[in-house]
Amino acid sequence: MVDSSPDEREWVTPPESFVETANVTAADCEAFREAGWPECWERPADLLDWDRSFDSVLDDEGTTRWFPGGRLNASYNCVDRHVEAGRGGETAISWEGKLGETRTYSYRELADEVNAFAAALREMGVGEDDVVTLYLPMIPELPVAMLACARIGAPHSVVFAGFSADALATRLAGTESEYLVTCDGYYRRGAALDLKSRADNACVSVDHAVEQVVVNRLDDDPAAGDHRAYADLVADHAGAEIEPVSREADDLLFLIYTSGTTGEPTLVRHTTGGYLTHVAWTSHAVLDLGPEDTHWCSADVGWITGHSYAVYGPLALGATTVLYEGTPDHPETDRLWEIIERNEVDVFYTAPTSIRAFMKWGEQHPESHDLSSLRLLGTVGEPIDETAWHWYRDHVGDGECPVVDTWWQTETGGIVLSTLPGVDRMRPGAVGKSLPGIETDVVDELGESAPPGESGQLVVTRPWPGMARSLCEGSGWGARRTRTVDGEWQYATGDNAVRDEDGYVHLLGRADDVLKVSDRRLSTTEIESAIVGVEGVAEAAVVVGEDADAVRKSEIHAFVSPESNVAGDDALRGRVREAVEEAIGPIAAPDVVTFTPSLPKTRSGKVVRRYLAAIANGEDLGDTSALRNPEVVGELESLLDR
Ligand code: PRX
Repeated sequence: MVDSSPDEREWVTPPESFVETANVTAADCEAFREAGWPECWERPADLLDWDRSFDSVLDDEGTTRWFPGGRLNASYNCVDRHVEAGRGGETAISWEGKLGETRTYSYRELADEVNAFAAALREMGVGEDDVVTLYLPMIPELPVAMLACARIGAPHSVVFAGFSADALATRLAGTESEYLVTCDGYYRRGAALDLKSRADNACVSVDHAVEQVVVNRLDDDPAAGDHRAYADLVADHAGAEIEPVSREADDLLFLIYTSGTTGEPTLVRHTTGGYLTHVAWTSHAVLDLGPEDTHWCSADVGWITGHSYAVYGPLALGATTVLYEGTPDHPETDRLWEIIERNEVDVFYTAPTSIRAFMKWGEQHPESHDLSSLRLLGTVGEPIDETAWHWYRDHVGDGECPVVDTWWQTETGGIVLSTLPGVDRMRPGAVGKSLPGIETDVVDELGESAPPGESGQLVVTRPWPGMARSLCEGSGWGARRTRTVDGEWQYATGDNAVRDEDGYVHLLGRADDVLKVSDRRLSTTEIESAIVGVEGVAEAAVVVGEDADAVRKSEIHAFVSPESNVAGDDALRGRVREAVEEAIGPIAAPDVVTFTPSLPKTRSGKVVRRYLAAIANGEDLGDTSALRNPEVVGELESLLDR
């Protein structure tokens, strides 16, 4: 229960100097309210250049379509229009490589390379609506390729470079993608990793032919023949000018896989007009970005956060975005602070997991650098506790910077709940309220509003522009997550939450089978099927447990039931981990593997992960009488008494 007695609550007020210059003021919020929903979204859409203006803000007849009749191109909005406005010389991307190298792209240079690569893709036969898969690490070619796809109306599907060949193959097959842009390899903690063989292995295991383009990152000069070299394509098409394809607002901009409520990998599709409006507006309103700013969103572009706030949001506003290829503690634990100092970063956006790691490494690292350029800090991806919140503000933000704790999901496209840094007081540990133009609620099982202080599921009660297209359609998983209660539409987020007396929302974690490990979202089904594929394993279930040193706050805990004549020993444990690394990637490998004769199941045979999660976290299990095999829970508890 959240404490709602006014004396106990802590408020932090943004500094006057910030409030005076903030992009969004209390008057803007009032104007939003006065405009009413959905018309209030007309003004945010003005942040973009439309080839044809929309006929209405929202068409809500049957399928929800934002900005019907409107046409635009995302690449034009993120690149060309800034050049046309005379800002071609300003920095669009400032890249920090793993080996300490740096590269910058001005908007003019970005336009040139995007045009050249768009021409190359076209020449390869990529047409409008063909899906292009991008399997690249954090190198500038990744945003260039995204924007080149957007230019020709080809939706991209970015696959995180840490994923394995098998995971890539599933995603290539699921999107029927016939084009893959990858690279020879990349550096991780000083070691070179081979990406090309992973890509090759994936391509041979899909049923259709996949044409590859390979970026030369390691100077390995990958053998010619089965692919085209990115550098050659760009050189051959230097000077090309590709007219940006005018897309309908509702046309797809990209596809991205995430894990769905049942733990299955799920394909989420985002639109051009609604998504771009949402991320441009929230970058402007919540991250307070403008053309003069340097923004650093430390998330990998392989995940939604990187799509929205390292690429599309900041570039739509003409800001500078910093991309970093490496890890925060390599070669030294002050690497991030050095990058912030050198790039004079204005706004820094990262995950609580990273903040907890910074705390562990010590405040002497940020304090030994000049971080005075920072004026706003943001967090995303998981709950941030009050201690980490204060540490972040005190030692990175000099005790002055507002901190925005932003809640959203792959499905929402952009930020949904947060404080507005120039308007709202902050409450450490709570994300804040829904942004203007968005309505959310915390509801009980029947979908009725829960009173303040009582937990329930967080739902969004009105469509919003960044919503995945899959959520607007009447069938498929989107339909399963939306419902109508008393004539009111609701999107079930899958998160448990509680609102305090002031309406600020505190997040309590997932209510479904989505596995959230630190800020990464993984598929339970994908991990479990990899484990069950190991010889000698009968069944498996994975849950999230709190990690021993509480830096990551979460670790993957696998409960594995071996076949009757097989020993649950370290050798099997090793094989389980290896199998997951191979099927998905090292980030999904279980941290703890516990062997059990059987898994707790309902009478109908469904594994109850809730009990396993409670065991992994040392929590009270409550009533287990609904289980077919309640005795197994007691056995597991004694096994894990650590
Ligand atoms: O559980 C919530 C958590 O991350 C989930 C969404 O994960 P994903 O689709 O990978 O998107 C991550 C980037 C937005 C949510 O359902 N989450 C996200 N932001 C927060 C959060 N939990 C608590 N506080 C947040 N600020």
